[in-house]
Amino acid sequence: MPDKTRSMIIGTGSYAPEKILTNQDLEKIVDTTDEWIRERTGMQVRHVVGPDEQNSDLAAHAAQSALASAGLSAAEIDLIILATVTGDSGFPSTACFVQEKIGAVNAAAMDIGAACAGFIYALDLADSQIAAGKAKRVLVIGSEVLTRITDYSDRNTCVLFGDGAGAAVVVPSDGKRGILGTFTKSDGRLNQLLYIEGLGTRVPPSHESVDAGQHFVKMAGREVFKYAVKAMGDSAEEVLRITGLTNKEVDLLISHQANLRIIEATARRINLPADRVFINIEKYGNTSSASIPLALDEAVRSGRIKPGDLLVLVAFGAGFTWGSAAIRY
Ligand code: ACO
Repeated sequence: MPDKTRSMIIGTGSYAPEKILTNQDLEKIVDTTDEWIRERTGMQVRHVVGPDEQNSDLAAHAAQSALASAGLSAAEIDLIILATVTGDSGFPSTACFVQEKIGAVNAAAMDIGAACAGFIYALDLADSQIAAGKAKRVLVIGSEVLTRITDYSDRNTCVLFGDGAGAAVVVPSDGKRGILGTFTKSDGRLNQLLYIEGLGTRVPPSHESVDAGQHFVKMAGREVFKYAVKAMGDSAEEVLRITGLTNKEVDLLISHQANLRIIEATARRINLPADRVFINIEKYGNTSSASIPLALDEAVRSGRIKPGDLLVLVAFGAGFTWGSAAIRY
């Protein structure tokens, strides 16, 4: 096992809004079927925010749960890194709203935008900040309200997305457990396969932009699928290569939950049997940057992850961005 662990996760938390949107509900909204959605994606239900609920509310719930499991108070956190593409507003950062909501008065706070790979990017940054001696207790959050940027007249995308948040508390390693290695990569040449045209300053909001649906997610699903399968497989292999670990040592693969077939293809690339792959896509759909920390928290709380287990985390998203992390839990 590599000896260069610098940081480790000591607590996890997650939160999903109460309201549920089922495949049967979607059958009433667009021309789709429960059978198509389950067979093509593995999804059954997803969670949807209520009208008064914001991204920072979900993130704050997840953060408080992670702090409680770590046995730390919010005031002990010195850095908050929140991965999201669906922040509360243009600025300030959603991390600053979360800071206020949880009372993390001694922290620096920032957002990071790497779409569905956001949590891996945020974890990588937390690890680096701790390695550099610049932070000691970092709250890493992935939180999204994708249902507010989803076009519920487009069956190609509206069945896929859900809302939720997950968080992890990262501190200096005890020398035994920790993040063994991370890998991040992007290819901005592929930005037109998965994007939102509006909501930024390139296409400022206007009646015309809203009428044209420019504030909604657009995705070339089949193309994204192909790249996702390759990039996630590459990422899983790369983090094993970087850390010198073998697939036989991996206890659990926690992949971004975008499509069951992509998760299975990633597991096949590193020859992992089904019982070493964590899947909860049927309950949440694709929650972008929240999907890995939601899965991680569920796996920890259900006892699926035991102390000392070797985890491989893998994600892929708009940008394109992708990456992975190997963790001795
Ligand atoms: N219900 C019924 N039929 C549908 C639906 C639906 N909800 N959606 C699409 N179809 C139809 C299409 O219109 C198409 O019909 P046609 O052949 O008559 O044109 C047919 O089903 C097949 O469409 P495909 O797009 O080829 O379907 P595919 O098997 O590729 O599944 C999906 C589509 C689920 C979107 C898949 O491509 C996918 O998962 N892509 C990757 C998504 C992903 O990984 N995203 C990652 C990042 S997300 C982020 O960053 C926010």
